[in-house]
Amino acid sequence: MASNCFGNIFRITTWGESHGKAIGVVIDGCPAGVAITDDDINADLALRSPGKSPFTSPRQETDHGEILSGVFNGLTTGTPISIIIWNRDADSSKYEAIKDLLRPGHASFTYLKKYGAFDYRGGGRASARETAGRVAAGAVAKKFLAHFNIRIAAYVQRIAGVEASPPAVDLKSLREATYKSEVFCPDPAAAAAMAAELTKIMDRGDSVGGVVEAVVEGLPAGLGDPVYEKLSGNISRAMMSIPATRGIEIGSGFAVADLNGSTNNDVFYMDGDVIRTKTNYAGGVLGGMSTGMPLVFKVAFKPASSIKIPLDTIDTKGNKQTFNLPAGSRHDPCVAIRAVTVVEAMTAITLADSILMNRSAQA
Ligand SMILES: Cc1cc2nc3c(=O)[nH]c(=O)nc-3n(C[C@H](O)[C@H](O)[C@H](O)COP(=O)(O)O)c2cc1C
Repeated sequence: MASNCFGNIFRITTWGESHGKAIGVVIDGCPAGVAITDDDINADLALRSPGKSPFTSPRQETDHGEILSGVFNGLTTGTPISIIIWNRDADSSKYEAIKDLLRPGHASFTYLKKYGAFDYRGGGRASARETAGRVAAGAVAKKFLAHFNIRIAAYVQRIAGVEASPPAVDLKSLREATYKSEVFCPDPAAAAAMAAELTKIMDRGDSVGGVVEAVVEGLPAGLGDPVYEKLSGNISRAMMSIPATRGIEIGSGFAVADLNGSTNNDVFYMDGDVIRTKTNYAGGVLGGMSTGMPLVFKVAFKPASSIKIPLDTIDTKGNKQTFNLPAGSRHDPCVAIRAVTVVEAMTAITLADSILMNRSAQA
């Protein structure tokens, strides 16, 4: 299986399967001198872990990451950083009953066509468990970005038609409010309404989609490239590589299709000695490069395919079958919630790579 890597200079390679012994990540290209510990990595892994809220999968993963290489005396050495996360709560027996069935909405059919085999135990590489490696790498990327005072926050912006209006606070406070909420939404009223909707949806045995919004502050202007390595393009690729994503909107997003230039143009002004724009419809990117205004984008997640409602399907021999979720198997009713940490991580990895790529821009 090719293409398990992401990034040009700050380059991650994730490995492992949902129900294998362990999963992990190798980070190539992280500069020396970044302070990082197992605890930093585990703080972010704990936020992604299932089993923490009534609205995420009850799978009890301890998700303990351990740095195996590339760090000495608490600082990165510039050599490959390898991080391992053991799989401790993987019960594969429940999946025996569905091993020959094409799982509607999941990756079993396409994997089977491409590789001639499919790891039915929780989806193998198609499982969102793979994203734990990204979150571990994201923790390292965030530490690197802290050298430039670049801050990232992501939160659930919409679930089941309920939209959040996040408080106008600094990104650190926004992030704290997000992770205090059981639906990872920093707007308490919206969070309560989302939780009420989710309870009804879960009672029906169904799942629901959602939108995660990400905001980045402290980016210098000019990050990214004008053509094939556009910041907007690379962020989109990063987001669309997360399982269950179905769309991304940067700034005004799809709404631009109905706007006029007179309303969508962000006009420039001097803020002291800094060039800024009065509005930020562009979402912080022009011509594929950062403007220095906050980078703002939304990612749409589909409803998890795992639902407790029987579905028509076929088996690998083409016989009609009914797909029932194995009794006792554990799933996320709304993947957007746990995806918040993954969005943060992929944003950090993309930006760390962009910073390093930009070092070749000017003499
Ligand atoms: C954090 C996270 C958790 C997920 N949990 C589940 C889950 O419990 N059940 C499920 O069917 N899909 C879950 N998914 C989505 C599947 O991994 C994904 O739908 C599947 O790999 C097929 O890929 P696609 O939806 O991108 O086409 C999750 C995704 C993320 C990002």
